[in-house]
Amino acid sequence: MPSTGSSTRSRLPRRVRIVDVAPRDGLQNEKAVVPTEVKVGLIDRLTDAGLPAIEATSFVSPKWVPQMADNAQVMAAIRRKPGVRYPVLTPNLKGFEAALAAGADEVAVFVAASETFSQKNINCSIGESLERARPVAVAAKARSVRVRGYISCVLDCPYEGEIAPSAVREVAAALHAMGCYEISLGDTIGTGTPGRTGRLIAAVADAVPVDALAGHFHDTYGQAIANVYAAMEAGVATFDSSVSGLGGCPYAKGATGNVATEDLLYLLEGLHIETGVDMTRLRIAGRYICEFLGRQPASRVARALDARQPLPATT
Ligand code: HMG
Ligand code: MG
Repeated sequence: MPSTGSSTRSRLPRRVRIVDVAPRDGLQNEKAVVPTEVKVGLIDRLTDAGLPAIEATSFVSPKWVPQMADNAQVMAAIRRKPGVRYPVLTPNLKGFEAALAAGADEVAVFVAASETFSQKNINCSIGESLERARPVAVAAKARSVRVRGYISCVLDCPYEGEIAPSAVREVAAALHAMGCYEISLGDTIGTGTPGRTGRLIAAVADAVPVDALAGHFHDTYGQAIANVYAAMEAGVATFDSSVSGLGGCPYAKGATGNVATEDLLYLLEGLHIETGVDMTRLRIAGRYICEFLGRQPASRVARALDARQPLPATT
């Protein structure tokens, strides 16, 4: 990614790809069932906002994550815009086959850098999870489907505490070697700080090209925007975020949502970094889902803009 040229911003990317994960990471933890048409309404509004990638749902066990049980119906009903990707989570071949039958053209496998979190989240060890992911990656390649890889607990684990960057590097290298085009590094519980984030990216970039890395920061401790900046300085130009900061992980008690897409976009606009995302349309998507859930957006930018520049009543 070419640099911006100015001395203070010389290491920042010109363009950032935002992956909005609200329909999956944002909603998976909601206790009350969100109707399929509301999920579809959210995804369609995110499409209208110009997001290049929207994580639509997950093909996991409905016993484990009941909120995502309507995955195939969601995939059938969304309005797909050419050029926009709609990845879905697939933990195993069963999920992969179901995702393909539902028309998915990009999937994501997910593993952890912490053994205990791996057991709680997907009921197997890190080694076993990589062996489960491998046939998914092989099958995806054979059918020309892109595969993304996620690593949870890249900085801290809710059960084990601090995670060594070398452990993350090892898992990232394994995912990259099996064919994941991008590895998203998840600060699942949002405890990371910028210094540690920078050191983590540097360590992982020893084994995986930095342009194949993405940042996935949860905002529990309010550090996510600072972590994005540190990751950009380290060469990362793709970030996962969630409109209105929705979310939390069912296997990480107390963790809040991803960095809000509105907050991320405000940062990037302020740095004149291109994204293709329109703030007003993004706020419309956020208002839509927050009105349904009956809560205020967790995004500070959305709340500030709502106070200063109210959105039109319709859409
Ligand atoms: P298991 O119980 O160990 O596996 O679950 P199993 O193979 O014994 O299957 C148990 C039952 O699930 C069987 O059904 C299977 O058929 C069924 P039964 O015979 O009991 O009726 N099953 C499935 N059903 C639908 N789709 C499937 C599927 N696979 C098996 N794909 C499994 C293992 C991985 C399936 C389970 O642990 C699971 O689904 N876990 C959900 C994990 C999850 O979705 N976590 C949240 C997403 S990850 C995340 O949020 C982190 C991230 O955002 C990054 C970050 O922030 O860190 C990505
Ligand atoms: Mg997450």
